[in-house]
Amino acid sequence: MYIKGEGLPPLIFRIETIHMQLPEPIETERLILKTPTWADAPDIFRYASNPEVAHFLSWRAHKTVDDSYRFIAEVEKKMAEGSLIEFGIYPKELDHIIGTIGVMPHMPRVEIGYVIDKPYWGRGYVTEAMKAIIEFAWTLENIYRIEAKADEVNIGSWRVMEKCGLKRDAMLKSYIYDERNEVPVRNMVIYSMTKPYQKLTENE
Ligand SMILES: CC(C)(COP(=O)(O)OP(=O)(O)OC[C@H]1O[C@@H](n2cnc3c(N)ncnc32)[C@H](O)[C@@H]1OP(=O)(O)O)[C@@H](O)C(=O)NCCC(=O)NCCS
Repeated sequence: MYIKGEGLPPLIFRIETIHMQLPEPIETERLILKTPTWADAPDIFRYASNPEVAHFLSWRAHKTVDDSYRFIAEVEKKMAEGSLIEFGIYPKELDHIIGTIGVMPHMPRVEIGYVIDKPYWGRGYVTEAMKAIIEFAWTLENIYRIEAKADEVNIGSWRVMEKCGLKRDAMLKSYIYDERNEVPVRNMVIYSMTKPYQKLTENE
């Protein structure tokens, strides 16, 4: 049982997940994208504790650094299960993580989600990361669609999608309930890019 304040989840969890297959780090012009680790939790806490940063995300702002350790434990669990491939965003000019970009495979599609710390908004970092992650996602087997969703008023997020070549599919009306808003029933926009399915073998 993980006890709040201890700073580490149970050893058995670490042993179970330590041998999982990690993706290779990806290098872009200004960024390194690589699996976040336990040591990143205090830096993750720096941005994940800001309610403004977390506002449009499915998780709530972290209250203590233990929430950030639990976040890493959750990432490791999902990566071990294959339901998430998470990359930390590390600018080369800094020696720490400033955000994450994650790929959730649901064959034949993947969904991508991202966040970075507020001082780094508007520098093109997430667009740069997203372009690299799109290339990565196309290397996954049996993936024909890349998609991302955002609250309809989260213009910065859907501008990232447009700048990376995704096209708006639809407005998903009354799609989620989020009590952090004056109007908690929220419309979302969904964007995607696709590649045509090609039959590979006669037996497929
Ligand atoms: C949304 C977010 C990921 C954007 O990341 P970013 O690195 O700042 O994005 P970029 O700099 O690559 O590009 C953002 C684009 O949106 C534009 N933009 C940002 N906020 C905007 C706003 N409120 N209105 C209009 N355009 C906006 C920027 O000008 C830029 O476009 P441009 O290059 O044509 O000027 C970042 O703000 C963030 O982490 N927010 C909190 C978490 C979040 O909302 N994640 C997405 C959940 S779906």
